[in-house]
Amino acid sequence: MDKTEALKDGKKVVIRKLTIKDLDKLMAFYRSLPPEDRKYLRVDVTDRKLVAERIRLAEHGRIFRIIALDKNKIVCDGALELSGEEWRRHQGEIRVIVARAFRRKGLGAIMIRELYFLAAANNVETIVAKMMRPQKSAQIIFHRLGFREEALLPDYVRDLSGKPQDLIIMMCPLAEMWEELDGFYTDSDWERCR
Ligand SMILES: CC(C)(COP(=O)(O)OP(=O)(O)OC[C@H]1O[C@@H](n2cnc3c(N)ncnc32)[C@H](O)[C@@H]1OP(=O)(O)O)[C@@H](O)C(=O)NCCC(=O)NCCS
Repeated sequence: MDKTEALKDGKKVVIRKLTIKDLDKLMAFYRSLPPEDRKYLRVDVTDRKLVAERIRLAEHGRIFRIIALDKNKIVCDGALELSGEEWRRHQGEIRVIVARAFRRKGLGAIMIRELYFLAAANNVETIVAKMMRPQKSAQIIFHRLGFREEALLPDYVRDLSGKPQDLIIMMCPLAEMWEELDGFYTDSDWERCR
């Protein structure tokens, strides 16, 4: 699925599936994230063994993982996780994290679009995004893409420092997300990707 995409500043990134061969590159990406970003992730991404396990899980399971590369360096990591539970089989959860230096250049939205394609191909009807309350940029981008905040669970999770945090659950029907994405990409090569 390798794709080359141009960001708002003209820089080109390659988007492709993540494999276990990317482990060193992925660790370098995670290590380059400021502690403030890592703090709100659901696992400790500096733990190489854990990261390797998660990649392997994605190679065989219901988790799809994609990366964006600037030359040989990972600058974004994205995932779509299909629910293994019968009663949530219509749902897909998406996650994305962009390197600081690459933010506000459209990369997060491009990756979400790719995850949207994967969701559509796997019969997902509702996309879910979960984040801790301090993850403001995530709330803004998902809101802009048509997601609504459907639940706020006070102190439901803990950040990596151990501090309790509110968990926000945002959702969007796949069809509505398409409408927002369609508008979002009028200035790019979006048509080519359909
Ligand atoms: C959320 C995140 C992925 C967004 O990535 P990004 O590449 O900066 O997003 P984009 O450049 O595609 O932004 C698209 C739009 O979202 C909105 N947006 C994104 N970040 C924003 C911010 N910090 N402030 C205000 N608006 C923001 C804007 O409307 C933006 O369009 P614009 O730049 O034309 O105004 C990135 O900030 C990130 O990695 N955050 C930390 C990890 C995280 O919270 N992940 C989500 C958990 S699921």
